[in-house]
Amino acid sequence: MSLLWNWLDEGRSAPSRATRRQRLVYWFGRRLALSRGGVEIHPTALVHPEARISARGGRLRIGARSTIAAGAIVQGTVTIGDDSSVQAYAVLVGYGKEPSPPGAITIGHFVRIAPHVMIIAAQHRFDDPTRPIHGQGMKHAPITIEDDVWIGGGAHIMAGVRIGRGSVIGAGAVVTKDIPPFSVAVGVPARVIRSRLATPPFPGYKEPDVMKPINPETTP
Ligand SMILES: CC(C)(COP(=O)(O)OP(=O)(O)OC[C@H]1O[C@@H](n2cnc3c(N)ncnc32)[C@H](O)[C@@H]1OP(=O)(O)O)[C@@H](O)C(=O)NCCC(=O)NCCS
Repeated sequence: MSLLWNWLDEGRSAPSRATRRQRLVYWFGRRLALSRGGVEIHPTALVHPEARISARGGRLRIGARSTIAAGAIVQGTVTIGDDSSVQAYAVLVGYGKEPSPPGAITIGHFVRIAPHVMIIAAQHRFDDPTRPIHGQGMKHAPITIEDDVWIGGGAHIMAGVRIGRGSVIGAGAVVTKDIPPFSVAVGVPARVIRSRLATPPFPGYKEPDVMKPINPETTP
């Protein structure tokens, strides 16, 4: 089957509607994902049939014009907004059921999730050293990625973290704490190296109402 998709989509893992064959691939990918319970996908979203999509008893939503590449894994209670993309081999796993899932993942609009990013809203418990870790259960905590965030390749986002709007997370970062809006954060553990608001914004830029300057000293 994999060979068939590869032939039809001309080797592209990033979704494209360029040719009829590619449109057929993404039509099939959407139908396949929708055939599973708890999955809602906007008709304009592109989901590759080789992405692993399953609500796992929760609720999984993919918004308008968003794209899920071949090899991506998106499972459990996950909401992806509009115009967002999840690239090859990124893994997103949310936990729990509505109305109050303890480990939901919420991805905003215009979010870019690069290849090999890991976003898993749970950790193993390991308090008792006398028992195997796998028998001690899981600790869930929600993960929120606000609008217009770019997460670089291979970054890991830990359970319980919120990444503020407009932020950039460097390749390979391990994000263990909340990141304020419009930050650039890199490293292990991720540290904010600068604010995007510290440089003069383009002419006509208006700060969104919900945003507060991260550094009032340097923010115009
Ligand atoms: C985070 C990023 C956007 C920063 O770009 P930038 O603002 O141009 O930053 P600079 O290159 O000027 O680097 C600033 C500092 O951060 C460090 N740095 C940059 N990226 C880093 C990373 N991913 N991890 C650790 N440190 C990093 C630099 O070494 C530099 O440190 P120094 O001041 O001690 O010399 C970029 O480096 C990055 O990681 N991009 C992701 C690329 C990617 O994943 N592409 C594929 C998917 S689309």
